[in-house]
Amino acid sequence: MATNPSAIKGREQTDDLRRLPKSLETAGHIENFDARQHACDVHWMRLALGLARKGWGRTSPNPMVGAVLVKAGKLIGKGWHKRAGQPHAEIEALCDAESKGISPEGSMLYVTLEPCSTHGRTPPCTDAIIAAGIKRVVMATVDPNPRHSGRGIDLLRHASIEVITGCLAHSAERLNESWNHWILHRTPWVIVKAAMTLDGKIATVNGESKWITGPLARAYSMRIRRGVDAVLVGINTVLADNPSLTPRHPDGTILPPASRLPKRVVLDTHARTPLSARLVSDDFRDSTLIVVGENAPHRRVESLSRQVTVWSAPLQNGRIDLHWLLNRLGEEEITSVLVEGGGEVNASFLANKLAHRVVFLYAPRILGGRDAPKSVAGLGAGNWHEVLKLTAVKWRRIGPDLLLSARLAY
Ligand SMILES: NC(=O)c1ccc[n+]([C@@H]2O[C@H](COP(=O)([O-])OP(=O)(O)OC[C@H]3O[C@@H](n4cnc5c(N)ncnc54)[C@H](OP(=O)(O)O)[C@@H]3O)[C@@H](O)[C@H]2O)c1
Repeated sequence: MATNPSAIKGREQTDDLRRLPKSLETAGHIENFDARQHACDVHWMRLALGLARKGWGRTSPNPMVGAVLVKAGKLIGKGWHKRAGQPHAEIEALCDAESKGISPEGSMLYVTLEPCSTHGRTPPCTDAIIAAGIKRVVMATVDPNPRHSGRGIDLLRHASIEVITGCLAHSAERLNESWNHWILHRTPWVIVKAAMTLDGKIATVNGESKWITGPLARAYSMRIRRGVDAVLVGINTVLADNPSLTPRHPDGTILPPASRLPKRVVLDTHARTPLSARLVSDDFRDSTLIVVGENAPHRRVESLSRQVTVWSAPLQNGRIDLHWLLNRLGEEEITSVLVEGGGEVNASFLANKLAHRVVFLYAPRILGGRDAPKSVAGLGAGNWHEVLKLTAVKWRRIGPDLLLSARLAY
C-alpha cells in the first residue's frame, strides 16, 4: 500500500486539481490553500473510498463508509462499515491502529461521510474521535439527513479539531446515491436496467431473451444486482423466462454474501405466478415478494402465500400502483430497487417518473421484428415534449457490448 502521496497517478491528481475551486469553496479555505496538502487529502480519501466500496451490497439500510487514519504521513489504521449494527468505519480504523499498538493521538482521519453524532445502533463516532485526540478530520460528504447534517462537524470543531469537507465529494455521493435518496425521501432509489440488441429489442419475436449481451456485461449486471436491496420484474417476464433473479457467478453459485440476497419482487395484478416458478419454489423463496392487485383471485393468493410473501396492492389504471409500492418498500428499509423488465414494467417506471437511473446494455446485434419485445414499451411519448431526457450520461465499452449509465432529467 502506497503511503507516499507522490504515488498518486498524475492524471487523477490533475483531474482533482482542476476541480479545486469547487472543493475549496465548500471548505471555505481559499486564502490559505495548500496544494500539497490537498493532493495528500485526495490520495488518502481515494483510499477511504476504496475501503467504503468493500461494503457493496452489505451495509443497507446503512451507507457504505470507509475511513483511514494517517499520522506523520503514514497510514496507521483503516476500516470500513461492514453491516448495519456493526461498528462504523471510523471506529474500525481506530481499533485497527490500536490493535497495532499505535496511538491515534495527533493523527488525521479521512472518512467518506460525516461522522455520526447521535446514538443509533452504535454510540456516536464524534465522541470516539474527540476522545482519541485526532487533530484533523477530512470528510467527503456531509450527512444528507437534515436531522444530523452538520451536527458532527460542529461538535468536532467545538472540540478544536480542524474539519475539511467536500474532498472527492462527487465520488462519495455517487457511491451512496441510493442511500442518500432513501434517507431523504424514504422511498427506494430506482434503477431501470435492460440488456438489448442495438435496435432496442429484449427478446425475439418468439419470446427468447437469453444471452443477448456477452459474459462481461452479464457479470456487470450481476454486480449491480448484488448491490441493490430488491430486484423487480413484471409477471410476463416470469411467465416467459422463469428467472431466478439471484446475483450469481457464471457457474451459478451465489455472489457473496449469500446470507443477504436482494428481495425478488414480481408485479402480478391477477396472481398468475405459477406455483412451480423458480421464484416461488427455489431455496431462496423467503426473499420473494409477489405484489398482487386487491381483487386478485383469493385461492390463487392463498396458494402463493403458503410459499412466499404476498402483498395486496391498490391499482392504478388496472395495474399495481407503483407509488404505493415504492412507499411500502421504503417503509421496509428497501433503499434501492433494480427494475429488470420487461418492457411494460420498464415503461411504467419511466413514464411515471419514478426511475432515477437507467443502465442500458447494448449488444452489437440486430433482431428486428415489429412485434419483438422492446426494452421500453408502454404507450410511448406522443410528442417531443414528452421525450425523457438523460443527464450525467456515461458510455463505456464492456467487451463487445456498450454500456450506458445515466440519470433521468425529469
Ligand atoms: N433481455 C432482457 O434484459 C429482458 C429482461 C426482462 C424481460 N425480458 C423479456 O421481456 C418480455 C416480457 O416483457 P413484457 O413487457 O411483455 O412484460 P413485463 O414487463 O415482464 O410484465 C408486464 C405485466 O406486468 C403486470 N403489471 C402489474 N403492474 C404493472 C405496472 N404497474 N406496470 C407495468 N406492468 C405491470 C401486467 O400484467 P398483469 O396486469 O397481468 O399483472 C403487465 O402486463 C419477455 O419476452 C422477456 O423474455 C427481457
